[in-house]
Amino acid sequence: MLIDLCELSPSYVRSIAPYQPGKPIAELAREMGIDEAKIVKLASNENPRGIGPRTRAAIEAAIADIARYPDGNGFELKQALAKRYGVDMASLVLGNGSNDVLELVALAFLGPGRAAVYSQHCFAVYPLATQARGARSIVVPAKDYGHDLEAMARAIDDETYVAWIANPNNPTGTFVKAEGIEAFLRRVPERVLVVLDEAYNEYLPHELKADSARWVKRHPNLVVTRTFSKAYGLAGLRVGYALAHPSVADVMNRVRQPFNVNSMALAAAAAALDDMEFVARSYAENLQGMRQLEEGSTSLGLEFIPSHGNFITVRVGKASEIYKRLLRRGVIVRPVGGGYGLPEHLRVTVGTAQENDRFLGALAASLKD
Ligand SMILES: Cc1ncc(COP(=O)(O)O)c(C=O)c1O
Repeated sequence: MLIDLCELSPSYVRSIAPYQPGKPIAELAREMGIDEAKIVKLASNENPRGIGPRTRAAIEAAIADIARYPDGNGFELKQALAKRYGVDMASLVLGNGSNDVLELVALAFLGPGRAAVYSQHCFAVYPLATQARGARSIVVPAKDYGHDLEAMARAIDDETYVAWIANPNNPTGTFVKAEGIEAFLRRVPERVLVVLDEAYNEYLPHELKADSARWVKRHPNLVVTRTFSKAYGLAGLRVGYALAHPSVADVMNRVRQPFNVNSMALAAAAAALDDMEFVARSYAENLQGMRQLEEGSTSLGLEFIPSHGNFITVRVGKASEIYKRLLRRGVIVRPVGGGYGLPEHLRVTVGTAQENDRFLGALAASLKD
């Protein structure tokens, strides 16, 4: 072959650094010859509680209709979400995970000659989605590991159409209070879509939870995204959504694939949304696990970034080396050097009390190796 086929894609696509997911348990088992049952994975901010019985029953019931295409409009799930948030169904966009919804924003509103603004240490999908559309990235230095919204507002130029904000942020767990978000919304030009990614919203204490749906009604340029992957325990099924002004939701819906959310995911999400007790327990257990990891890190003499999510980012020194030592002990966490710019930290998902213990024990040993 005379041509390099890779060269056929636009240069902005070729220069994308691939997303690095958490290492799968089966892969580590294969590589190290460790029994899968002995591996602890705290690398992808999943819910260690799994799913509740009502959600499981809904998934099982959905099998009967699996030969049919799903409802491309996701009517039942949208109806339940519309009721929950007091919004019109036309304000909702469903996605194959909230990643899909983020991609839809980029697809609908970014392109060559346009720019998106985001923070240093932000969620990896923002640079990825921006670059894949040939749009320019405006990266603003973080303040105390979190979003510096004033600096982000100042960095917006005439070509900026999107501002990506995760609140709480992944991988740092930092959080901007409602006043900060409101001030940012007042300040940015109406042309700029503010994407407020609330993937970890359910892990916030009640007093920090903002009424995001009300914000969306007040600010037509605000898109709020949420997911069923975290507190609802449905990461493997892939379902997330956006709340947006109907005209914004309309263009996002035009560029999505007709059946982007599968029927099992739709049924599971509708059931999970109803199971408030499961989410409340997930919240409470996460809080306990977080304290366990905070205290464990402190007793090992390690600093951590105070987190509002279901994960904690701990400063361990030579993180890439400690990561490998943990792998050898059957514990998978997430290194956040590389694209995230935190080479001395490891991000650890809050697991069950037992999993957290395993991690802390393995960490203590790995620091001594
Ligand atoms: C901040 C943030 N947004 C969005 C997502 C995407 O989650 P999903 O596509 O599973 O909904 C994640 C996943 O880790 C995340 O951390």
